[in-house]
Amino acid sequence: MAAEGRTAEEARYVATTPGSCELHRRAAAVMPGGTTRTTVHFQPYPLYLERGLGCRVWDVDGTERLDMLGNYTALILGHAHPAVVAAVTAQVERGTSFAAATAAEVELAEELVGRVRSVERVRFTNSGTEATMYAMRLARTFTGRPRLARVEGGYHGTHDLAQVSTHPDLATAGPAARPVAEADSPGIPRWVVHDTVVVPFNDPEGAVRILREHAHDVAGVIVEPVLGVGGTIPAEPGFLEALRAVTAELGMLLIFDEVISFRVDRGGAQALYGVEPDLTTLGKIIGGGLPVAAFGGRAEVMSCLDPERERSLPQGGTFNGHPLGMRAGLAQLRELTPSVFRELGERGEWLRGRLRETFAGRGIAAQITGLASLLNIHFTAVRVRDHRTMRAASEPMKRDLFLGLLNRGVLIAPRGMLAISTPVGYGELSGVVAAVEDVVVEHAAAWRRLQSAQGA
Ligand SMILES: Cc1ncc(COP(=O)(O)O)c(C=O)c1O
Repeated sequence: MAAEGRTAEEARYVATTPGSCELHRRAAAVMPGGTTRTTVHFQPYPLYLERGLGCRVWDVDGTERLDMLGNYTALILGHAHPAVVAAVTAQVERGTSFAAATAAEVELAEELVGRVRSVERVRFTNSGTEATMYAMRLARTFTGRPRLARVEGGYHGTHDLAQVSTHPDLATAGPAARPVAEADSPGIPRWVVHDTVVVPFNDPEGAVRILREHAHDVAGVIVEPVLGVGGTIPAEPGFLEALRAVTAELGMLLIFDEVISFRVDRGGAQALYGVEPDLTTLGKIIGGGLPVAAFGGRAEVMSCLDPERERSLPQGGTFNGHPLGMRAGLAQLRELTPSVFRELGERGEWLRGRLRETFAGRGIAAQITGLASLLNIHFTAVRVRDHRTMRAASEPMKRDLFLGLLNRGVLIAPRGMLAISTPVGYGELSGVVAAVEDVVVEHAAAWRRLQSAQGA
């Protein structure tokens, strides 16, 4: 971006991150846009980190920041937790991967089945994307039906069937109660859009009405109990229950995508909500910072993958059940006792409350959504409860906040999401509130003008 077009926060960022700027210049010569992960790319250029310890990270210029993101929620124990480091180190010395099964995959599978009541059988993948891809294929295999239903604004990774209506063009996406399926990116085949049924989030009547119209062709409904990428928005009471009831009645499978929301309770969000799906997808925290994900559920459904069965659903993958990831995941999960989840939840509640006070005290309209250790800041006066209400929020304010916090030593997601890890105590949380207050003070006048122009 031309220097003269920069905001004050961008100029500050550029002045303090020469090492990142130089690496990005080199990256741009060898990777499109200089990045290999769209979610860590931002303007003017991404931050390049060198190391992390606990809840702190250091960039390539040596600047220390408080990490309030933990690789997009995955690092619930923070960076380089001693138990995870010891487990990975011990495994590296015994070999990294084999053309054979290992005890580690059995132990992590036992741990997950022990934690999540609805998961009777589980299979591992290397990413949440693969986990949702298999869960969807499994739903089609089990029911013999062609279509998949999903909520508008939900995120399930980057395979073709996942990339529909996660961020639709609202001008063409139809009415809120009856969303029209839209491809999220170029290259998504037309049949994928045709075979996707989109239902509204947090609108039980609307969702049930649409599913009834597809009583015979929808194989399953995939939904995050807490929309993650789509704004960290929890399901309201009654929504998941309505999906559970209608899918059971119509012979569809209910799939909870808990790749993010598994961090809200020892048994996942489904334990907090008391709603049991047929299939669950997991990722992020189950790998202890390594690329591990999983899908699992009812034994009867999962048995479609049994290689002993005729016409079983195959699941290859050179690195499935990778010993390093299995060991790291086990080490991380074993630290996560019910009291750890309780404490994380209390800290999340505390932070949501302080942030609400901070914005209200300066006359800034903001909604703080989230559940337990997950939260998201949205600059709007509208109560955020689904994708469309989230889209009412101000993008420029979010960008000022993200860069403003980065410049004040706090790393959050550009979309305004924060995830609390166990090393983040009340001292660190007070630091986050102080940094937010500082950004608000600097930008309050401009932000109020922006919000009154938008009628927020
Ligand atoms: C709910 C949900 N499902 C699936 C995915 C995809 O996981 P991955 O990035 O490991 O492919 C994500 C990633 O953020 C996610 O949040």
